[in-house]
Amino acid sequence: APVLLSDYQPYPFLIEQVSLRFALLPQATRVSARLDLTPNPARPGQHDLRLDGEGLRLLSLRLGGTPLECQPDATGLTIPAALIPAGAFTLETEVEIAPEGNTALEGLYMSNGMYCTQCEAEGFRKITFYPDRPDVMARFRVRIEADLPVLLSNGNPVDSGAGWAEWDDPWPKPAYLFALVAGDLVAHSAPFTTAEGRKVALNIWVRPGDQDRCAYAMDALIRSMQWDETAYGRAYDLDVFNIVAVDDFNMGAMENKGLNIFNSKFVLASPETATDDDFARIEAIIAHEYFHNWTGNRITCRDWFQLCLKEGLTVFRDQQFSGDMRSHAVKRIEDVLMLRARQFREDQGPLAHPVRPDSYVEINNFYTATIYEKGAEVIGMLKRLVGEDGYKAALDLYFTRHDGDAATIEDWLKVFEDATGRDLTQFKRWYTEAGTPRLGVHEAWDGAGTYTLTFTQTNPPTPGQPDKGAKVIPIAVGLLNPNGDEVLPTTVLEMTQAVQSFRFDGLAARPVPSILRGFSAPVVLERDADAAERAFLLAHDTDPFNRWEAGRSLAKDVLARMVTQGAAPARGWLDGLAALVCDDSLDPAYRALALRLPSEDDMAATLAAAGHVPDPDRLHAERRRMALALAERLAPHLPGLMEAMRVTAPFAPDATQAGQRALFNACLQLASRLDGGAQARDAYARASNMTDGLAALVALLDLGQGQAQLDAFETRWRHDRLVMDKWFMLQILHAAPDQTAATVARLTARTDFDWQNPNRFRAVIGALSANHAGFHQADGSGYRLLADWLIRLDPKNPQTAARMSTAFETWRRYDAGRQQLIRAELSRIAATQGLSRDLGEMAGRMLG
Ligand code: ARG
Ligand code: ZN
Repeated sequence: APVLLSDYQPYPFLIEQVSLRFALLPQATRVSARLDLTPNPARPGQHDLRLDGEGLRLLSLRLGGTPLECQPDATGLTIPAALIPAGAFTLETEVEIAPEGNTALEGLYMSNGMYCTQCEAEGFRKITFYPDRPDVMARFRVRIEADLPVLLSNGNPVDSGAGWAEWDDPWPKPAYLFALVAGDLVAHSAPFTTAEGRKVALNIWVRPGDQDRCAYAMDALIRSMQWDETAYGRAYDLDVFNIVAVDDFNMGAMENKGLNIFNSKFVLASPETATDDDFARIEAIIAHEYFHNWTGNRITCRDWFQLCLKEGLTVFRDQQFSGDMRSHAVKRIEDVLMLRARQFREDQGPLAHPVRPDSYVEINNFYTATIYEKGAEVIGMLKRLVGEDGYKAALDLYFTRHDGDAATIEDWLKVFEDATGRDLTQFKRWYTEAGTPRLGVHEAWDGAGTYTLTFTQTNPPTPGQPDKGAKVIPIAVGLLNPNGDEVLPTTVLEMTQAVQSFRFDGLAARPVPSILRGFSAPVVLERDADAAERAFLLAHDTDPFNRWEAGRSLAKDVLARMVTQGAAPARGWLDGLAALVCDDSLDPAYRALALRLPSEDDMAATLAAAGHVPDPDRLHAERRRMALALAERLAPHLPGLMEAMRVTAPFAPDATQAGQRALFNACLQLASRLDGGAQARDAYARASNMTDGLAALVALLDLGQGQAQLDAFETRWRHDRLVMDKWFMLQILHAAPDQTAATVARLTARTDFDWQNPNRFRAVIGALSANHAGFHQADGSGYRLLADWLIRLDPKNPQTAARMSTAFETWRRYDAGRQQLIRAELSRIAATQGLSRDLGEMAGRMLG
């Protein structure tokens, strides 16, 4: 049965203190817990004491010091109200668990001989009996006993000796923020002093041999700590901050109080092993987890329906940080590309759900692009509406009013209302209603200086939400003169009705509008601008996002016409793009983004929305034809551009060098389409960093070449898991459509295809679904392969299986034959014996 937001009730007890003792053994870890409880005045009356617990062998139970006979059920333990004394009391339990057999990587598990935990959302119940819900906040004291050199938990170290250590966390926290790590680890350390003068020991713990790949993550951590002090006035609050890298991890990373645990992929980096994109992602994720210390930990969520309270805000903060560290324009474009690729896709399919859902079956299925990325967009809109000062006042109020709370979206909106005097009743629909609004535009010019923009918003139905009200949409607009001058600088129009007009007077000539600057709202802009107007904006728009967007929409129109009408790649697009790419006054990273063609998945969605049935093979072929035309158009400029972008200085993972490499490699990619791969072979041989090496390899793979380079790569890197993940992934991602399934079959037959490692599984099976034309082969081979692997993974690791199943969410876009094939695979999954709640919920929702 689903969990409902409307069923929320406070927990009947408060926990003053939690004392835990772990005696770690792979097959028989003993966990002793002592909870000091009192009745919760918010729930008067006599209540049973219900504790969550799954897969625990209960060894002993004492209430107020007296042994109690009480049998747990499948999901926990109930102590009847009649047995519970009035006032304060203690509950002591001892359980046994087997971390070595925990392949779901939730709770306490083992990775390469090291013990680690993942408790969010509901993993703590696999460790001990406890009210595993975020509104129960308590102080934790932890003793760890194990014959291992490094024993870590949350908070500050209290004391330690041979084979044991004790930790104390002074900050009350929910159980999902609990963490424990024990293993043979080494630290990369650095000191930090907060603005308040607190001295903090920073440590990044890794397996011996990896310590020389931590410098960038440490640098990013220090910059994050400084940034949160200056940008939000938030300082760190413990004497140590530990980060641990683990190889087996379901997600990116986890913000456990004082002890962040990371997928090693988002910590370890060196120029030889990591690309510029990897460095940027590490910086963003280190920042994200660190920022959770205030937005998530000090202020947490009342229940899991409020997940976006911490995730949307923390994503918004990490995006601001990355923009400050690098380039705001480039960061915004990258974020919007991601939003459209993942969140719009989700919002337009059977898995659409509100930023704050009101029901779920398995909460792990709701760590989605909607909660995270759309959650961040909603905050961006709020900030645009209330302005910099209003935002700052609201956030200050949020931190002072709610420090130590488990809060709700209502609390969040209330601080904005109280700090700015604004009524956010209508704005709240962004949190409660799913779906991507579509924004139509109509312009009128009266010939006498008055120009009117009329917007129409439509809010399409989503599962369970047929009708929706109008949203508050901040529409940032600028107006340009036909000569390219800006006559109206960026102005935020506040749309609140279904149809609404905005008038601009006193104009000398009919202006060209630049609408939705900076992507001021997560909507689909439906504007039938002609190609000439788009080309004009591509050349002249003063808003860097919209200038890029003009090129993007032009490219999509061109590709759509190639696919649906057999048209040739339009001259206007080619010339406009060439002019932009050759404009030395523009940031190379920005120019590289402009060269990126729309993805096949994005095009399939766009065609489907316009009433066409996308043909994946044709889309793939036409996109290649488009790239070739671009290469031919740019051919005279490529040598000069590449020469100008060549980095001669020693490698630095900064935005400047990364931008130069990005543009160089985008040019190399195009040049390879004309030279048979000669320059790419040369570039591969000479590459001195992973960014350049992989870019050259990709250029060769796209030509159906590169076997020698793949072999050399394997020889050099076969002992490095993270680097080999790239090797697996690229061969599948860049396989020809009719070779994709065979490539997957060949690679999954290898002994080093360790499918129980989530990174390796995602590298291979995730690449299968990311190869659009390969996955959607008309014979159904891609679908079958994915379903086979999901069914195989599910009993071991339901979370990752469920997450990867979203590859099927777009099935209604395609032709009847493909729809039938996908439906059959989803039904086969749904009918599997012993299917997990995770994958079961996903298959059910996708089938509708
Ligand atoms: N709170 C983590 C983050 O956003 C994500 C952990 C999610 N884990 C899960 N099993 N659902 O950084
Ligand atoms: Zn997060």
